[in-house]
Amino acid sequence: MKDYIQKLQEEHCLTKEEFTALLSCQDKSVYDYAREQAAKIRQQIFGRDIYIRGLIEISNHCKNDCYYCGIRRSNRRVSRYRLTHSQILDCCQEGHELGFRTFVLQGGEDPWYTDQILTDVVRDIKKNFPDCAVTLSLGERSRESYEKLYAAGADRYLLRHETASEEHYRKLHPDGLSLQNRKECLWNLKKIGFQTGAGFMVGSPGQTVEHLAKDLLFLRELSPQMVGVGPFLRHQDTPFADQPNGSLQLTLFLLSLIRLMLPKTLLPATTALSALHPDGRKLGILAGCNVVMPNLSPTAVREKYLLYDHKPATGLEAAESIELLKKQMKEIGYQVVCQRGDYPQSE
Ligand code: 5AD
Repeated sequence: MKDYIQKLQEEHCLTKEEFTALLSCQDKSVYDYAREQAAKIRQQIFGRDIYIRGLIEISNHCKNDCYYCGIRRSNRRVSRYRLTHSQILDCCQEGHELGFRTFVLQGGEDPWYTDQILTDVVRDIKKNFPDCAVTLSLGERSRESYEKLYAAGADRYLLRHETASEEHYRKLHPDGLSLQNRKECLWNLKKIGFQTGAGFMVGSPGQTVEHLAKDLLFLRELSPQMVGVGPFLRHQDTPFADQPNGSLQLTLFLLSLIRLMLPKTLLPATTALSALHPDGRKLGILAGCNVVMPNLSPTAVREKYLLYDHKPATGLEAAESIELLKKQMKEIGYQVVCQRGDYPQSE
């Protein structure tokens, strides 16, 4: 198995069979080896720097009904909210003072946010904070819409593919959503020029190691600048309420493999990882992550953006706790830096 890890490190790819074999092995020494190699690569490219992103959850309205997600349309127990233009700008102001130089506007798929409304927000953020990057994470939109958002100044776009297998995609989503459209959105985003992020959940219901192997091969093919991967976590008011959470060790192993496969990728230690384990964020960094995304949403709405049960929004996950975050990173030998933290240009 270590040979496969070495091969991945040297050639940045494996076959589906090799990935499947690697992901089936639950040998701690293999996990340890992958982590050590991933940490080495990360260090070569990014040194000890950790990039931070201020996450602003602009809306928990969603027209979709994904079976795993707490803010799905059918969940009547969610108290829905939308942030206004000025609320979003206020979050950025606060974030800028705290040292954030990237703002991530994330939300459910909410048609209330027209291109006009979003491009106005993006333009104003870029005007007021010209030293900052804007990342959008607002789901599937038309190519024209993505083009307008890019022209308005948005730099990056996150859209997890969720699973690269058609048949598994069908188990996680109702009809009307398709993997094909998802992939097309991702290719469009890349073509337009966004630094693009894809990704998936580890341990989502029905997921097999073959599915995960396909996820890695899809990431290889797309070569996104960012990758979002975290454990699946159940939410009590979804059809998956009784499903087990994803595994911490397997998630960490995948993060290491992704670092080896896409060495320069911007890879966050996700909130879901912190929700799964109190040391999730640290463990993610040690496994090869180089980004953290603390919550910068107005405190009053944080408890309403619950994608899964026990989602943390305070303490270490809160942007106001940046000093704690810095301390935590220092403890493991890393430093939080206040830079935009773009994808490294090739020499
Ligand atoms: N557990 C973990 N991650 C989830 N997401 C949505 N619901 C859950 C859940 N129950 C992830 C999806 C989505 C991202 C914003 O959050 O992968 O793309």
